[in-house]
Amino acid sequence: SVQWIKAIERAGVPEEDVIAVQAGGREIALYGVEGEVYATDILCTHGNARLCDGFLTGHEIECPLHQGRFDVRDGRALCSPLRENIATYPVRIEDGMVFVAL
Ligand code: FES
Repeated sequence: SVQWIKAIERAGVPEEDVIAVQAGGREIALYGVEGEVYATDILCTHGNARLCDGFLTGHEIECPLHQGRFDVRDGRALCSPLRENIATYPVRIEDGMVFVAL
């Protein structure tokens, strides 16, 4: 069954940027895009790079190591050298808090 984990205050998610948060004993990446919040795994599927150190443009997060890009909405790998999509997690906003289904 889906477990909704409280991650951070909604106000703590930057607009047009990415942050790392702790949720359920693990670290995930949260993205603020056009008033919405998206969540993905934090480690790139290509190598040992943290997407929270990458660059967010629209819905695309660019890995800081080899510039692979994922769509934060569905985790789709958009270009080489990426071969694998990244895991995404449903997000819910309630009482000013961000909850993530892990
Ligand atoms: Fe992310 Fe290579 S580690 S593109």
